[in-house]
Amino acid sequence: QKKAFIFDLDGVIVDTAKYHFLAWKKIATELGIEFTEEHNELLKGVSRVRSLDIILELGNKKVSQEDKNKWLTQKNEDYLSQLVDMDASEILPGVFKVLQFLKEKNQPIALGSASKNARPILEKTGILSYFDAVVDGNDVTNAKPDPEVFLIAAELLKVKPEDAIVFEDSVAGIQAANIAMMTSIGIGNETILHEAKYVFRDFNAINQSFLEDLIKNSNP
Ligand code: G6P
Ligand code: MG
Repeated sequence: QKKAFIFDLDGVIVDTAKYHFLAWKKIATELGIEFTEEHNELLKGVSRVRSLDIILELGNKKVSQEDKNKWLTQKNEDYLSQLVDMDASEILPGVFKVLQFLKEKNQPIALGSASKNARPILEKTGILSYFDAVVDGNDVTNAKPDPEVFLIAAELLKVKPEDAIVFEDSVAGIQAANIAMMTSIGIGNETILHEAKYVFRDFNAINQSFLEDLIKNSNP
């Protein structure tokens, strides 16, 4: 049977969630807004523009559109400066093994990310060729938890949403997968990602028989 395996990027495939956090933290500090790792969970999976709005809401601050644009540019420049030397060593544990296994089983694979920097990251880390489709922040109008990004990915892979499996590290992404009626798999903290159908600490915690079952079974 053919399923679609859709991967989020930041915090699932590559260890970039920390760079997003550090760049936002710097901006929050400049704005005099307290911003913790706990607050940061709200930003995961969320678009750049929406992320700034959330930080401003946390600090009860209003700024002009001009200032917003300035902060958004600064955020991305800061973030990109962390990626200059990026290579395959930034790929998270077990990711290669899972991608390789799915390829061997002829399962279609897509990326479903909110980031506008997704493609260069896939190129730099050398894993672009694993993906039959790439849907990123340049292709969608509605940010997660809206399921748009995952629905487009499933459509490109010609698989029904019920036959799609989504790997996500963010609450918004798990919600998006659930709304799309896809099988949601959280990668990270079980308590934070409790809305997911399954949660694993990382891809090394996923064994081959679990993947085989996902391929075989229909989504109840
Ligand atoms: C991902 C990350 C978010 C990030 C968003 C936009 O969803 O989890 O932290 O804000 O992408 O990324 P971008 O690279 O376009 O700023
Ligand atoms: Mg993510």
